[in-house]
Amino acid sequence: MIKDQVLAILLDGGDEYVSGESIADRLGVSRMAVNKAVAQLRTEGMDIHAVPKKGYRIGGNDVFNRISVSRYLDPGIRLYFYDSVEGSTNDVAKRIELDYKEPFVVVTGHQTGGKGRLGRRFESPSGGLYFSLCLPRCHLPKAGLITTAAAVAVAETLKTVSGLDFSIKWVNDVYLDGKKCTGILTEGVVDLELGGLEAAIIGIGINVNTPERELSSLSGRATGLYIETGRIFNRAEILGLTVSKVVSVLREDFLPRYRSMCFLIGHGIERRTKDGCVKEGVITGIDDDGYLVVGYADGGEEHFSSAEVTINLNHEGQNYILNTF
Ligand code: BTN
Repeated sequence: MIKDQVLAILLDGGDEYVSGESIADRLGVSRMAVNKAVAQLRTEGMDIHAVPKKGYRIGGNDVFNRISVSRYLDPGIRLYFYDSVEGSTNDVAKRIELDYKEPFVVVTGHQTGGKGRLGRRFESPSGGLYFSLCLPRCHLPKAGLITTAAAVAVAETLKTVSGLDFSIKWVNDVYLDGKKCTGILTEGVVDLELGGLEAAIIGIGINVNTPERELSSLSGRATGLYIETGRIFNRAEILGLTVSKVVSVLREDFLPRYRSMCFLIGHGIERRTKDGCVKEGVITGIDDDGYLVVGYADGGEEHFSSAEVTINLNHEGQNYILNTF
């Protein structure tokens, strides 16, 4: 489509103006066709500046659509882009009829049914970046370490683009300034014939350009890049960088990096069981399977998987409570 080609040329031009005539020449179409394509892009919400004798340029740096995302995405990863998703990108990824042999990613800027861990809802308002990366088995380490690797990839990518320091709340939350900025939900696709994991769907939701009012229901527990800096970030770039980083971190020895960002290590906790037993301990580390290690005064130690426990601050916001299911 001419419209997509015009957009690609304007994106290539960056901050520079590109004349309508040169666009028409490059595409072998009339000036009128270029004007029509620009008008169409504007009706789709693109901010395109026009200056007589200079031409066109894209305003703002968050051009977020199929064309801009595909420019930043590794060409080996198939892209499914949607302006908005009814439901959850993880569920869309599961419905895409592929044989899970090749990686693909479902990307959107808004979803109506964002899912979090443990059946919780994940607020997914416009301005954020929500995607589900589906990776076949050959890309994956131990199943229990996929979310751990994804958290490292997100924290490192966001630091690269923003210069800010991120930390990780075991197991799947990336934090900025003591508040949650990103959630990760990994779901497995099981091979029913052979048994075992056939593919993983790694769902990542990042508060990128999300306005503060959209997160008000989370009563000060969530933040985002725009909220912290007042700057608008390029979601297409963040998507492309994060996806490549997830794929590369999965092949690396990433646990030392995870441990160094995990702010729970060293914190005291109250371990509570369903029958009301309370025991005090200290989070001493993350083991090689990504489990949380808790040490007790009597010298005992326990290792917990993320499927077994939740960790939350108590009501005063001072002590961590570890609830076992
Ligand atoms: C959590 O914080 O408990 C995990 C949140 C995961 C949210 C992402 S957004 C993209 C993908 N689609 C979903 O519905 N959930 C994940």
